[in-house]
Amino acid sequence: GDAQLYYHLQLVLEGKSLRDEEALQLLPVGTTATLYFKDLGPQIGWTMVFLIEYTGPLFIYFAFYFRMPFIYGLDDRFPSSRHPVVNLACICHSFHYIKRLIETIFVHRFSHGTMPLRNIVKNCFYYWGFAAWLAYYINHPLYTPPSYGQKQVNLALIMFLTCEAGNFSIHVALSNLRRDGKRSKTSKIPYPTKNPFTWLFYFVSCPNYTYELGTWIGFTIMTQCVPVGLFTFLCFIQMSVWAKDKHSTYIREFKDYPSLRMSIIPFLL
Ligand SMILES: NC(=O)c1ccc[n+]([C@@H]2O[C@H](COP(=O)([O-])OP(=O)(O)OC[C@H]3O[C@@H](n4cnc5c(N)ncnc54)[C@H](OP(=O)(O)O)[C@@H]3O)[C@@H](O)[C@H]2O)c1
Ligand SMILES: *[C@@H]1O[C@H](CO)[C@@H](O)[C@H](O)[C@H]1NC(C)=O
Ligand SMILES: *[C@@H]1O[C@H](CO)[C@@H](O)[C@H](O)[C@H]1NC(C)=O
Repeated sequence: GDAQLYYHLQLVLEGKSLRDEEALQLLPVGTTATLYFKDLGPQIGWTMVFLIEYTGPLFIYFAFYFRMPFIYGLDDRFPSSRHPVVNLACICHSFHYIKRLIETIFVHRFSHGTMPLRNIVKNCFYYWGFAAWLAYYINHPLYTPPSYGQKQVNLALIMFLTCEAGNFSIHVALSNLRRDGKRSKTSKIPYPTKNPFTWLFYFVSCPNYTYELGTWIGFTIMTQCVPVGLFTFLCFIQMSVWAKDKHSTYIREFKDYPSLRMSIIPFLL
């Protein structure tokens, strides 16, 4: 059949991989250059990557929510009914991942075609593993509900939903930007649009990550669970790294980049 080889081209000078759009004539070398091919192994498309990464947590969480007998076992001390916040958390968690799946299919436009298969194994360990860990504690029959009761849950829910909506708005805005960008072949600075959720673009370069953080903080407040807080914290670190990266790319690419913008947290980071 048609075998396709995925590879990185490397110039030994820098040891950095060349990007698809870099033209050979423009590289900082003389008339001869040695190029190194690095085989990246089997590949899988981004859409497929995300579908696999996100369906895992969805179903893993259900296994804990429905208290599959092999998970918690049977114990006379276990009450048979669930606290209302446990039901709400399950709805929020499912909503989050279903939203991601729908976005992956209908909203995102992927600029890099594929991802090495070995990365997806690593990512799944991370996402699926954490989903199981969080689900174990939240759905535990002896789970203790939030200290401040319904007030705390309501506040958390508002935060969660607002940030989900914000995150979605940003993805739509970025997707529109890419559609226009593909036509004109240049990348652009994202600006706020008429949608108020996108106004965060006045203050940060990556509002999608800011909202993502807000979502998980909301979920932490709602469930008042230490593992959820830890997961939120790790997400925050990871997203700050990505956001700082993107932020410096913007600054390098655009001389007129708005100076008020930070990477992920307005005025701070
Ligand atoms: N290596 C990295 O720097 C990096 C960064 C973020 C995520 N990731 C991986 O992505 C996975 C999930 O992260 P995430 O949910 O935050 O996704 P994401 O990082 O925002 O997206 C990862 C990839 O999907 C593309 N993409 C995402 N949304 C898009 C959209 N609306 N339109 C077009 N392309 C879009 C990005 O393309 P663009 O490159 O055009 O943005 C990027 O190549 C993680 O497993 C992580 O490993 C890697
Ligand atoms: C989030 O924003 C960053 C920076 O603008 C972008 O690179 C990334 O693709 C976005 N993620 C999604 C899922 O749109
Ligand atoms: C928010 O955006 C990030 C990155 O663009 C994405 O990975 C995440 O799934 C989104 N979060 C929510 C809450 O939808």
